[in-house]
Order: sequence, then structure tokens, then C-alpha cells
Amino acid sequence: MFDALRVNASQDHPDTRVGVPRESRAGERRVALVPKTVEKLTGRGLRVVVESGAGVGALMPDEMFIEAGAAIEDAWDADVVVKVAPPTDEEIGRLRRGAVLIGFLAPQSDPEIATKLREAGVTAFAMESIPRISRAQSMDALSSQANVAGYKAVLLAAELSTRFFPMLTTAAGTVKPASALVLGVGVAGLQALATARRLGARTTGYDVRPEVADQVRSLGARWLDLGIEAAGEGGYARELTEDERAEQKQRLTEAISGFDVVITTALVPGRKAPILVTAEAVKGMRPGSVIVDLAGETGGNCELTEPGEVVVRHDVTIAAPLNLPATMPEHASELYARNVQSLLELMVNGQGRLTPDSDDEVLVRSCITREGDHR
Ligand code: NAI
Repeated sequence: MFDALRVNASQDHPDTRVGVPRESRAGERRVALVPKTVEKLTGRGLRVVVESGAGVGALMPDEMFIEAGAAIEDAWDADVVVKVAPPTDEEIGRLRRGAVLIGFLAPQSDPEIATKLREAGVTAFAMESIPRISRAQSMDALSSQANVAGYKAVLLAAELSTRFFPMLTTAAGTVKPASALVLGVGVAGLQALATARRLGARTTGYDVRPEVADQVRSLGARWLDLGIEAAGEGGYARELTEDERAEQKQRLTEAISGFDVVITTALVPGRKAPILVTAEAVKGMRPGSVIVDLAGETGGNCELTEPGEVVVRHDVTIAAPLNLPATMPEHASELYARNVQSLLELMVNGQGRLTPDSDDEVLVRSCITREGDHR
């Protein structure tokens, strides 16, 4: 139910104002709207106000936003504030009572945030809670950013590797192509398989959802079948039972030793990342091999992962970068901004007024708190 949204029209600003603050989290170079999306939103009757320097990290100076129709003003005072990273306590304090906040809000890892936003009288929509249904594909920021992460994970692996990815035939001899294994082939995993293949590696994909086997093969990769199936609800995997986990670890430990590169992306929403690569498996890999663990945020898929760090264990390099999308701020922002634009378009009418449909599944499921209430 969103009838209670009272965000429109103060006397000074009759139009709904959408504010784009400068991100404050260390290393965060993305911005929530880019000039192209500003143009689209102003075309829908919204006013966009951008904090000076908000786009600098993504190489989008204030002038580009002004040209697209935005004003450079205090973005925190806006009716709707759009962000990339969750707000700090200090930033929550700067939001107006009755404002709407849209962004990655990490409600599962930080349940406190909903309480804080409710106390601040804010209605908040978490981008990570947008359901992965067909109609909401254009708003699916987890997917757009996971694509960036899957791509970049492979480039990082190639950089850390002591070996070539492609096969090389040279006067000095022939180099065999690297073999790359991707564990967990959702959005990030499929992009990783595609990217590793483009670089010339022999690729293999593994997941507990058997329905992705065809997608893996369609990318020219081999499907690793360990005989453990765990499809859950809503297209996600379920958590494995203890017996299944033990069996999976044992079979993967045997399989992993044959690969030069392992990229891990296994995730069950709301749970700690499953351990797929044991210390024993790392020990069994050839020296110089590389593991890139994308699940560092939830503890990591490798037993020896140190979230946010690059470490060498048993002569194997293990990297667990926490925010790869921020390392490609231009395209990551473009994709994210398009997701935010689509969500905003779902909420506004032709006159730029917020008129969200109180029964809309996308809004109901992504709303983590609304003025004076939270779910
Ligand atoms: P997704 O939900 O599309 O894919 C996760 C896959 O893991 C699913 O296919 C699922 O079936 C599989 N899986 C779950 N449990 C498994 C198990 N026990 N064994 C094998 N496979 C299993 O998720 P998405 O969007 O591709 O994200 C993947 C991971 O990448 C997440 O952990 C996410 O947090 C992380 N990520 C990391 C970033 C970074 O910069 N480090 C940036 C973006 C995403």
C-alpha cells in the first residue's frame, strides 16, 4: 500500500524533485543517475537535482548533468533520493521526513536499516529486493551489476594468472589454453563463462540448478555434473542439506585440481555463502592457479578467502574483490541508472507526480519501509 506517499509538491518546488547525491562509501565511483537517464526523467515531468561532483567518479562532470536538464543543488533535500550504496546514519539524517529513498540498501545483511529509515519517516525501496520476474527485468540492478562483476572477475583472474588464457602457437612452441571453472552459473557466472571463453580459455560451468546446463553449453562451455540437484523457489537454489554439502565438497575437491582458474559466484539469498572450494582443494591445484571469489560479501565460496583481499595460499592466488562494479564506474552506472529510471517510471504519472500502484508486485516486494511502518 503506497497511498500514503506524501512526497509531492512543497510550495517552493511544485514538481517532484529527484536528488542524486555524491556517493560517500570508500571506493564507490558509481552514480545513481547518468545524464542520459536525467534527460528521460525530466521528459517525464520530474525535476532532477544533482549534488556537485556526484558523477565525477564515473567521469561525468556537473556540466554533463546540467546539459541533460539537471540542476546542481542539495540532493538530500529532494522528494526522492536515488543512491547506489546504502546511506550512512549521517546521510539518513539528511533525508526529509516523507521522502522516498531508492538504492541498494542491504536489508538482509543490515536489518537495522529499515528501522532507521522508518524512524526518519522515509519510504524506502531496496534495489536488491526487486523480484527477478520478466516485467521487472529492466529494473533488476542485481543482474546488471552482476554482469559487470562476472566480466571483471575474469579479467582479474587473467591478470593474476601466471599463464596465458588462449592457446598460442608460436615459433617457440605451443601453449595450451587455460582451463577455467565457474562455480555457480547465475548472472555473474554466465557472464564469467562467456568472458573467459572470449579470452580463449576452455570453460566449464557447475551449478546445483540443472536447468542452467543448457545455458552453460550454449556458451561453448562444458557442464560439470556432480549429481547434486538443489533447485529452490523463484529461480534460486535452495541451501544444501549437510549430507549434500559434504558430498559436493568431496566431488568438487577432486574436480578442481584440474583447473588453472576457478571463479566462484554461488549464492543462496539471505544465507552465508556456501563453501565450495575447501583448503584441501586449493592445496590440490597447480601452483600459479587463480581463484576469484565473488561471494566475499557473504563470507566467500572458498575456505581460504579473505574478503576484500588478494592472498596467496599453497602457491594459489585467491582474490575476493568486494565491489567490482565500482571498478567499471562508467558502464556500471549507465546500467544501474537505467534500472533506477525504470523503477521511477513505474511510480510516476504523465505529470511527474508520484502515483505508485499500491498493489504493484515490484513495488510491494522492493519496499522495505514506508513512512511510519516497515515490513
Ligand atoms: P545468482 O543468484 O544469479 O547466481 C548464483 C548462483 O549460485 C545460482 O545459479 C545458484 O543456483 C548457484 N548456487 C547456489 N548455491 C550453490 C551451491 N551450493 N553450489 C553451486 N551453485 C550454487 O547471483 P548473481 O547475481 O550471479 O551473483 C553471484 C554472486 O556474485 C553473489 O554472491 C553476489 O553477491 C556476488 N556479486 C559480487 C560482486 C563483487 O563485486 N564481489 C558484485 C556483484 C555480485
